[in-house]
Amino acid sequence: MTGSFKDKVGEGGFGSVYRGKLSSGPFVAIKMLGKPKGNGQDFISEVATIGRIHHANVVRLIGFCFERSKRALVYEFMPNGSLDKYISSKGDAIFLTSKKMYEISLGVARGIAYLHQGCDMQILHFDIKPHNILLDENFIPKVSDFGLAKLYPNDNSIVTLTAARGTIGYMAPELFYKNIGGVSYKADVYSFGMLLMEMANKRRNLNPNADRSSQLFFPFWIYNQLIEEREIQMDEITEEEKNNVKKMFIIALWCIQLKPSDRPAMNKVIEMLEGNIEEIEMPSKPSFYPNEIIEDIESETDTDSDSISFIVECTSKPLLMNSA
Ligand SMILES: Nc1ncnc2c1ncn2[C@@H]1O[C@H](COP(=O)(O)OP(=O)(O)OP(=O)(O)O)[C@@H](O)[C@H]1O
Ligand SMILES: [Mg+2]
Repeated sequence: MTGSFKDKVGEGGFGSVYRGKLSSGPFVAIKMLGKPKGNGQDFISEVATIGRIHHANVVRLIGFCFERSKRALVYEFMPNGSLDKYISSKGDAIFLTSKKMYEISLGVARGIAYLHQGCDMQILHFDIKPHNILLDENFIPKVSDFGLAKLYPNDNSIVTLTAARGTIGYMAPELFYKNIGGVSYKADVYSFGMLLMEMANKRRNLNPNADRSSQLFFPFWIYNQLIEEREIQMDEITEEEKNNVKKMFIIALWCIQLKPSDRPAMNKVIEMLEGNIEEIEMPSKPSFYPNEIIEDIESETDTDSDSISFIVECTSKPLLMNSA
């Protein structure tokens, strides 16, 4: 099926991904997993759940292999790869028009909204980032790797979680700080906000190679530009496209608000993306650290009814240190 695993397409936190071909014709992506926790029954029931999920913006799991210690997931193959190829960290990205980026962002929002509210159970992704957004032959985006957070429960500390998922820059602050609010679907909204910011800008928010003193963290910079109504430089695009990019920036700033309860749900995000820019208010300035707002949070508890709580296991040490 995989031609002896010659055609490796990538490697992530859970194992390697290979391209294969089914005897019936179509190409597939086969994700070989390391040894997971729990018994095989957990794996099978979880995979069966993931396999029942169908949405235009969610990648299809078409099968799995389970043989002694070897486990693999078989997905439909996405010929245009993952979104990270189109978002630059040092000017090396493949070009996509702003119009396409806007359409992709809307598709991604629909995919996540479906996982949160559209299917039988609520699926929290916990690893929304450009690498987990795959593009089909028509550049229709598909959210991938959902359900793996549950398949690989992590009951140690936030440090291990970070090491295993490798998503600094997209992880919601409530995963680092105990006192912001419970961990809920709003953590995915945060990650989507960071991704949306990068899509609008077509660049990474965090440039690990940047000289810290000379580069302001991009979300802070864009906030100042918008508040002062300064013209933001964009590729030669139409007025409508400019508006869409600006909308993406403002909505992204809403999604990355420090307090989960200030962030919109994904349905609201879709509504704002599709709606009129004049109807969107400017959010407050995003902030990375809870210090500034800790006082007004202490009197409030997050009322998200479907909050789940593994936050008790997290340390309160800030791991996100890259705001310049
Ligand atoms: N269905 C697929 N079709 C085409 N390419 C894929 C598919 N699934 C994954 N890939 C490619 O393989 C790479 C590695 O995927 P993988 O999910 O293992 O790691 P990741 O997304 O970088 O990180 P994470 O482990 O957090 O998901 C992806 O970045 C993507 O380019
Ligand atoms: Mg992935």
